[in-house]
Amino acid sequence: MPGKKILITGAAGMLGSDVLKLFNEASAGNHFQVIGTTRKECDLADRESLNQLLAGIRPDLVIHCAAYTDVDGCEGQREKAFTANAGVAGNLAEALGKLGSRLFYISTDYVFSGEKISPYTEDDPASPLSVYGRSKLEGEISVLTLGDKGTVIRASWLFGHNGRNFVKAILAKARSEGKLRVVDDQRGSPTYTKDLAGGILNLTRLDASGIYHLTNSGDCTWFAFAREIVDQAGLDGIEITPITTEQIGRPARRPKNSVLSCGKYSALAGKPMRHWREALREYLALDTPRPSATPLKRGICFYPPAL
Ligand SMILES: NC(=O)c1ccc[n+]([C@@H]2O[C@H](COP(=O)([O-])OP(=O)(O)OC[C@H]3O[C@@H](n4cnc5c(N)ncnc54)[C@H](OP(=O)(O)O)[C@@H]3O)[C@@H](O)[C@H]2O)c1
Repeated sequence: MPGKKILITGAAGMLGSDVLKLFNEASAGNHFQVIGTTRKECDLADRESLNQLLAGIRPDLVIHCAAYTDVDGCEGQREKAFTANAGVAGNLAEALGKLGSRLFYISTDYVFSGEKISPYTEDDPASPLSVYGRSKLEGEISVLTLGDKGTVIRASWLFGHNGRNFVKAILAKARSEGKLRVVDDQRGSPTYTKDLAGGILNLTRLDASGIYHLTNSGDCTWFAFAREIVDQAGLDGIEITPITTEQIGRPARRPKNSVLSCGKYSALAGKPMRHWREALREYLALDTPRPSATPLKRGICFYPPAL
């Protein structure tokens, strides 16, 4: 990548901030320039602003981490979801196609229906259950029109230091109430944004194109994830009750199984990402406890806040 310019969108978000940090570290001595953009500099959904941003920078590569990620919010705001997720990706793909530049698009396990019993591979047909999943899938389709200049990276169940996430929410609720009710009939792979950023960097270095699944190794239900969070944090006497998706009744439908098979990535990169339990240990060691940004209501069951 020497001499190249890399633009990172959503640079104030949970994943984008880790991607920006890691690419900045990697750029030292490697003579490539990293530029992060947030909503403050550019509303990506405003096509004119987006085109101005791209014309000013003329990036060789864009890592597109920005998205409207409120899965339940998307259900009631279909237009906003499609504009932010599908529309922006489409406009980026078109503009970067003209520049001859590359686009890495971060997508989601929620493009799958969850009916499959085993982990989803890149070749499995997508069939999203939610507006969020459909809007992200439409973005994928635009990015893939770029051929060997387009890369789709599907990740899942993110937790990172710079954003609302399940780990923070579980710890806050466990500390404040001592008991939790957590969904036990959805399976996925928790993924540390710091590790995902590392995987993305590897894929850019390897010039990967097409679709890649990229998560931490191992899988669990939200209930098992909550149990592990509480245990690793050393919180004693926390009562965690497993409940069903039906009991929680959220606006957006979610896949029962959204475990992603990451064999294609492991074969290319030479090794898989580490197990999510190990990643969680590092996350907890580095994270300073602070109140969750998610408002917690007494007496209600808890569920992943913003996936
Ligand atoms: N979180 C998960 O569990 C998960 C799982 C699988 C895949 N993903 C994917 O991973 C990526 C990163 O997710 P994340 O959880 O890190 O997201 P996040 O924390 O919600 O960050 C997304 C960022 O994008 C920005 N953004 C959204 N629309 C924008 C616009 N029109 N113009 C400029 N900025 C805009 C947001 O700014 P504002 O805050 O101002 O809106 C926010 O800073 C997304 O593509 C998501 O679909 C996430």
